[in-house]
Amino acid sequence: MVRQQNGPTREQILDALREVCDPELRKSIVELDMVRQVEVRDGQVTVDAVLTISGCPLRDAIVQSITERVKALPGVAGVTVNLGVMSADQRQALIGRLRGGEMHPARRPAFLTAASATRVIAVASGKGGVGKSTVTANLATAMALDGHTVGVIDADVYGFSIPRMLGVFGRPTAVDQMLIPIERDGIRVMSIGFLLPDEGEAVVWRGPLLHKALVTFITEVHWGDDLDYLFIDLPPGTGDVSLTIAQTLPQASMLIVTTPQPAAAAVAQRAAKMAEKVNMDVIGVVENMSGFTPPGGPTIDLFGRGGGLRLAEQLGVPLLGEIPLDIAVREGSDAGEPVVRSRPDAPAARALREIARKVADLVPVGAAP
Ligand SMILES: Nc1ncnc2c1ncn2[C@@H]1O[C@H](COP(=O)(O)OP(=O)(O)OP(=O)(O)O)[C@@H](O)[C@H]1O
Ligand SMILES: [Mg+2]
Repeated sequence: MVRQQNGPTREQILDALREVCDPELRKSIVELDMVRQVEVRDGQVTVDAVLTISGCPLRDAIVQSITERVKALPGVAGVTVNLGVMSADQRQALIGRLRGGEMHPARRPAFLTAASATRVIAVASGKGGVGKSTVTANLATAMALDGHTVGVIDADVYGFSIPRMLGVFGRPTAVDQMLIPIERDGIRVMSIGFLLPDEGEAVVWRGPLLHKALVTFITEVHWGDDLDYLFIDLPPGTGDVSLTIAQTLPQASMLIVTTPQPAAAAVAQRAAKMAEKVNMDVIGVVENMSGFTPPGGPTIDLFGRGGGLRLAEQLGVPLLGEIPLDIAVREGSDAGEPVVRSRPDAPAARALREIARKVADLVPVGAAP
């Protein structure tokens, strides 16, 4: 509806608003059908728009963005933005569009499917504590620094550590059945940690619920169709979770982390066997904690030598890199600033950046999965 005397036309305004994106959904508010009415009267522009939910934390950002775009048009004297809230039906229609399919409650299309262009990389190990989460957080950050759009699923429901390592806290916005990942520094993150009352809370779910939580993170989370890479931080040594991932995202590949210790490498081989069983491609091995160099001193092989290379050879996959033990790695993880960002010159950071580039070469975006 337009009543126009002076100032820009409705089309010009809508064109300008096309560049305003919903900060959470990362799509144009025009495309999302959030602009409901535009009125121009003597250079005074009134825009009526609707938000997905009433408590939208980014309300002010949207108003500001609309105001700025419209004000920049010639002949605009003032801008008024009225924000309403979508009805349940409007929300369902929106979610249906975001999922790229018809909304039938029983058969909602998943946000991430085998057909998605997103490359999925599950980070696994045989035993715990070898640095899966550290490697995941740093590779995701390195990929983002290289200009990729990246997501991380913390699939370690019992021992989640990704929120702390990436410094991402808060609660994801929920729009009906759709969750929006929390984003920081270009990395979209979903963790069970976001959904618990506090970080110290213990998760006491049994297998089927675990499976359900993970499937929810894949199918009910709006990752965005522009996502290049999705990393999945696996819990130590569980076959169930890998099976769920392989069934839900058959294009997923696996990266195996081990320490240089021969015993650890032998255990890591089990993770590879599991990958084989569920038809997941192992793209390579990452050796972590590969020696410690004290200031001025020679390198000490605290955890032995050569486990990563031996494992890679046994599996017939490349050894993608060796990450030294480095206090900067631990400090970065504890501070929520991964070492590749906080201490880019540290040898461990350089090794991690290099590994991220090799991963990108092995599973390039744009090629068929
Ligand atoms: N290269 C490294 N140098 C120094 N500290 C490291 C390095 N890699 C990992 N760490 C530290 O080792 C500990 C274990 O790492 P992390 O939590 O990433 O292992 P994990 O394999 O994910 O463990 P879990 O099996 O419990 O999930 C962390 O405190 C981490 O900061
Ligand atoms: Mg972990």
